[in-house]
Amino acid sequence: MWEQVQQTVKYIQEKTNFTPEYGVILGSGLGSFTDDIAIEFTLPYDEIPNFPVSTVEGHKGALVFGTIGTKKVVAMQGRFHFYEGYDMKQVTFPVRVMKYLGVQKLVVSNASGGVKDSYHVGSIVLIKDHINMMPEHPLRGKNEERFGPRFLNMSEPYSRAMISKAKEIAKDLNIEVQDGVYLGLQGPTFETISEYRMVKILGADCVGMSTVPEVIVARHMDMETFGISVITDMGNEDNIETVSHAEVLEAARKAEPHVRNLIKELIKSY
Ligand code: HPA
Repeated sequence: MWEQVQQTVKYIQEKTNFTPEYGVILGSGLGSFTDDIAIEFTLPYDEIPNFPVSTVEGHKGALVFGTIGTKKVVAMQGRFHFYEGYDMKQVTFPVRVMKYLGVQKLVVSNASGGVKDSYHVGSIVLIKDHINMMPEHPLRGKNEERFGPRFLNMSEPYSRAMISKAKEIAKDLNIEVQDGVYLGLQGPTFETISEYRMVKILGADCVGMSTVPEVIVARHMDMETFGISVITDMGNEDNIETVSHAEVLEAARKAEPHVRNLIKELIKSY
């Protein structure tokens, strides 16, 4: 794995000598964030050695290198989900690569189902913690010490400093945000009414099928991590019948301009 990561990094660095400080992973319906980047270089996933290829509707599949203000970023347009059939090592491989390209801070976005009463479709949630209920762990197996420790401290998976900066920015921009706990499940089914209830009982505020593995691996390599979620459906008995992928994409697109602005200003100023 270590060698594979170095090989991929070497390939990318032969194509571009760009050294990003920020990594951004864009979730469902949030891909147009790349319009905010002054793009210098784009690399489709299918050209990158050792990279998996994205298959889900609404995900494009390229690494985008460029600047936001004075900050250098690399964005993943489209991510890899466990439910697509990749194993957790593949799902998180790009995060390993980002680290060795120079990335120190990782911003991750996603769409999720809300279970907290104060949320509504379109709510923007700053993820303050997560509950990992995915069936495979990205750090299972022999630990590679060059990446990070065997037993990883997870007391601050999401940077408190970045959350508090994001809250300031949201206030200035008049964007309503709330914080919350994200619970990661395998998918690809949306939750049953009883499963949404379980999510709430377990202490989470929203539920989705991504983010948790990438954040674990980022923290394994001591990257500072920020997670933001758009509530695209509410997991309550009134409207669960209508939850569909189309609905998720539609709701995410509506909130997208705000999420874009928030991430853009956070990267510029943090
Ligand atoms: N559940 C799981 N994943 C999701 C949801 C949901 O309700 N909405 C968007 N992604």
